[in-house]
Amino acid sequence: MTFSRTNVVLAVALLITAGLAAGINVDLTRPNYEFLPEMKRSPAYDAFSQNPNFANHRTLQTPVPGTIARGTLPLHFAPTKEDALRAGEQLSNPYADDFALLQIQADVSIAEPTPDAPPAESGLGAENPEHDRGQSEQEARRKAAQKRISDSLSRGREIYRVFCISCHGPTGAGDGPVAKRGFPPPPPLTTGRSAQMKDGQLFHILTYGQGSMPPMAAQLTRDRRWDVINFVRAMQKNAADTTAPATAETPTAEPADSPGSRAGQEEAK
Ligand code: HEC
Repeated sequence: MTFSRTNVVLAVALLITAGLAAGINVDLTRPNYEFLPEMKRSPAYDAFSQNPNFANHRTLQTPVPGTIARGTLPLHFAPTKEDALRAGEQLSNPYADDFALLQIQADVSIAEPTPDAPPAESGLGAENPEHDRGQSEQEARRKAAQKRISDSLSRGREIYRVFCISCHGPTGAGDGPVAKRGFPPPPPLTTGRSAQMKDGQLFHILTYGQGSMPPMAAQLTRDRRWDVINFVRAMQKNAADTTAPATAETPTAEPADSPGSRAGQEEAK
């Protein structure tokens, strides 16, 4: 009895549902009813749209004075001779610590044997592991510094080949193809003034140019400028180490490779 009445109620409910489903024609091409539309559509302004919230009616505001764009660092120098000298005093080569470490290490290794010898003889074995660990840490730091420097030099060699060789020539003598065709020849990089200049001054020349030497800041990031400075230093060191007849021979050798590979090997030792 109750069973059949329940069935009737369910059947009626089913009919009503089916009728409604067939009767209400949902247009699926149009959006449904939106509850709290602000959650779906953000009131944010487009970058270049008008904006009533600012006095100048712009959405995109100019940065406040002193803003530094991400990835850039300002240089506070003017393209003048005085500021080139100031840059020499104030800018330091980011590889200076690595060069200094290798220099200090060289001195330490000379001084080391004397204090080392007595404990080894007197058989104080307990102290040796400590000492060895210190040694190997120093050795690891030295290796890391050496790798950073030789990586920088090989980048610098490539940069020199692409951006400098055309004027300065393969050995830095100022005899590149551009200089040979009438461009004022640059002074020699290995024996000229630049050998006495500080790294920061070279950085200033590469950044702002000097006389008819073009500024290189647009072509070379700061890091790449330091790489080519390290490479020029290696060329200078190389030239200073080599005797005069040897330098005279070099230009006749393979033009692009000779300064690079020689300087690179020199540093890699
Ligand atoms: C378009 C030719 C040209 C190119 C390319 C060029 N230089 Fe120069 N460079 C010159 C000239 C010319 C001078 C001399 C400028 C002067 O003082 O009148 C010079 C000067 C220099 C000096 C100063 C030398 C001194 O004794 O005063 C350095 C250092 C230097 N260049 C390095 C470089 C490096 C590194 C590159 C590559 C990244 C490069 N140059 C690319 C033409 C060039």
